[in-house]
Amino acid sequence: MKSVSSLRRLEIPGIATFEPGEGDLARLTVRSPLAEAHIYLHGAHVTHFQPQGKAPVLFMSQRSLFAADKPIRGGVPLIFPWFGARSGHPESPAHGFARTSEWQVESLSEDGDGVVVAAFHLASDERTRALWSYDFELRYRVAIGRTLTLTLEVKNTSPEPFTFEDALHTYFTVSDARQTSTTGLENAEYVDKTDAQQRKTQGPDPIRITAETDRVFENTRKTCIVDDPGLPRKITVEKSGSQTTVVWNPWIAKSAAMADFGDDEWPQMLCIETANAGANTLTLPPGKTHSTRAVISVS
Ligand code: BG6
Repeated sequence: MKSVSSLRRLEIPGIATFEPGEGDLARLTVRSPLAEAHIYLHGAHVTHFQPQGKAPVLFMSQRSLFAADKPIRGGVPLIFPWFGARSGHPESPAHGFARTSEWQVESLSEDGDGVVVAAFHLASDERTRALWSYDFELRYRVAIGRTLTLTLEVKNTSPEPFTFEDALHTYFTVSDARQTSTTGLENAEYVDKTDAQQRKTQGPDPIRITAETDRVFENTRKTCIVDDPGLPRKITVEKSGSQTTVVWNPWIAKSAAMADFGDDEWPQMLCIETANAGANTLTLPPGKTHSTRAVISVS
């Protein structure tokens, strides 16, 4: 683990500082006039975002592990280079290795509008090549203002093309998932992971959570809006460079089966994930870069 003192030179005094977080993992804490945020170097994982005067936007499980070899449960896990189980490789870790890698902090800056931008970097090495043979560079920019803008850049530094999946796996805090309705995916096609991967078509109405929900919507670039009348607020997820949106709530049985998630936490969360997965798996030629971006705002 990176020692916090070696990161001090990057700090913006009084605004963006490094400290030991949960599990003694290094964490960037941002407290600006616009918002608060926490980002762990482990997975470049955003665990907290709260515009000043508003409620926290991201859900974190009380049961989350904070350990160098385990993913964090909640916030925004970064998924790369495969989504979910890796096809043909049951031994590979679910959702790839980016979320359990130690990222480097490249820079911290504040723009003229008071938006703090943290840039993180992860490159292939022996450990990643043992899991996935290609060479790559990832850059992740987190812009913390009234909105949260997440941009994951994937560069192929291999001499050959590679295919990959990615996701900004955002867990949102909601008052009660069963009371929310989510627009933006009307009439879209999806793979139902709760029903033998069957292909289905969403109806014309907003999505309501009435059971375990794990839907991989393909070929959709639309903005999603989660309407949460209980808080009340609306969370808007605008995106670019992403053709897949995943909607996930584990409901009762799956929650009970997850060791790092409380049995009763499922009503408090809803994942709307900005992704490229399944039929939208990307192929990147050597030297090329792909950017996946999500812009998250609350009103
Ligand atoms: C979602 C998947 O993106 O992530 C679900 O669609 C999965 O199938 C969920 O259960 C959580 O995955 P994990 O690996 O963090 O437990």
